Amino acid sequence: MANKYDVVIIGAGAAGLMCAAEAGKRGRSVLVVDHGKKPGRKILISGGGRCNFTNMDVAANNFVCRNPHFVKSALSQYTQWDFIGMVCQHGIDYEERDHGQLFCLDSAKDIVQMLLSECDMPNIAQRYQVDVHSIEKTESGFTLGLNTDTVSCESLVVATGGLSMPKLGATPFGYQIAEQFGLKMIPTTAGLVPFTLHVEDKEALADLSGIAVPAVVETEDGTSFKENLLFTHRGLSGPVILQVSSYWKPGQKITADLLPHLTLADTLNDMREAHPNQSLKNSLSRLLPKRLIEALIERGDVQDKPLKQLNHKELALLSEYFHQWQIAPNGTEGYRTAEVTLGGVDTDELSSKTMEAKKVKGLYFAGEVMDVSGWLGGYNFQWAWSSGYVAGQYA
Ligand code: FDA
Repeated sequence: MANKYDVVIIGAGAAGLMCAAEAGKRGRSVLVVDHGKKPGRKILISGGGRCNFTNMDVAANNFVCRNPHFVKSALSQYTQWDFIGMVCQHGIDYEERDHGQLFCLDSAKDIVQMLLSECDMPNIAQRYQVDVHSIEKTESGFTLGLNTDTVSCESLVVATGGLSMPKLGATPFGYQIAEQFGLKMIPTTAGLVPFTLHVEDKEALADLSGIAVPAVVETEDGTSFKENLLFTHRGLSGPVILQVSSYWKPGQKITADLLPHLTLADTLNDMREAHPNQSLKNSLSRLLPKRLIEALIERGDVQDKPLKQLNHKELALLSEYFHQWQIAPNGTEGYRTAEVTLGGVDTDELSSKTMEAKKVKGLYFAGEVMDVSGWLGGYNFQWAWSSGYVAGQYA
């Protein structure tokens, strides 16, 4: 005889735990299964160990999803203020950083602990290091073959996350479940991920590893972000690169304004009037890291000469070069270092109000497994909380 539950949730990450707590509050008997040793492993390492758990300013345009309206219902059913309220109720101290990002003051462990205490109810069971071998649809719900036994449930919630960071237990299992039930998928790729460079660019910029400059970076589709750009020994990273990586397509160029706070032609003009004999290299090195200017001169992109020798046309060209510095990434570092997975279960297959699959009664999805990815800044967790909450109301 199978052990019977009202709800089985596969995945004890951010969305799965949120969903369990909510379904539990409704009096549903809940089983959470995870193949890992412990819950919330991504929460624990997130935000440099302090978990950027949400953002002060959350809207549908902070998410990448083929249907840009899909996220609206869940985000309004459970907002960032609801989650902040829970954080406060549990006495967790937090701080606001740039761009409205909220982080734990002490440790990401506080968030996992909070979710576990929300799940601390006699009607919620959790099982770890459990493999799900099979899932069958029955008249009244689903039967799951586990490596330990067989369980049955009325509602099944798939909260298995995306593919990023396989060493933390990421698997494509959620996608396989969607496919088993005939749901369409949006092809997956790594998002919020550093870029790698073609050999020539990599070699020319290799010495710049560790240098960060504030920049506005734009993709070919016109999406732009303003934050720090970091040169690494593999290529380009930093928050602005992670953000645009979610909009970049292979083969495309990115354009960076490396001096977003000034107009270079005007600044160089002023410098030329004040110090006509000063070299272009020294002048630019006052505006950007010297090593970067040296690398660009060495590469032949910029010719060093005294400022007084620069004519109008050269000034304009220099200005264009630094305000519209173009580079074509070779690719990304992939799922090994990506923070999220773009694509996943097609949201057209799901009800935006309940997260239930439209054509499979009782089958729900929550979190990153579906084609919803947030910007850097706490949006991915907010999606996990909102979609997990919603699934928990209906499963
Ligand atoms: P999540 O990945 O959290 O959980 C999925 C669960 O399913 C895991 O416990 C996994 O073990 C389990 N599972 C997978 N396959 C299974 C199988 N076959 N059988 C059983 N169980 C299975 N976001 C943010 O908003 N702020 C931040 O600060 C960060 N920081 C950050 C840092 C790093 C390094 C990464 C990789 C990611 C982030 N993120 C983030 C993104 C965020 O961690 C992510 O979007 C959420 O954890 C997604 O929540 P889910 O519950 O959907 O998946």
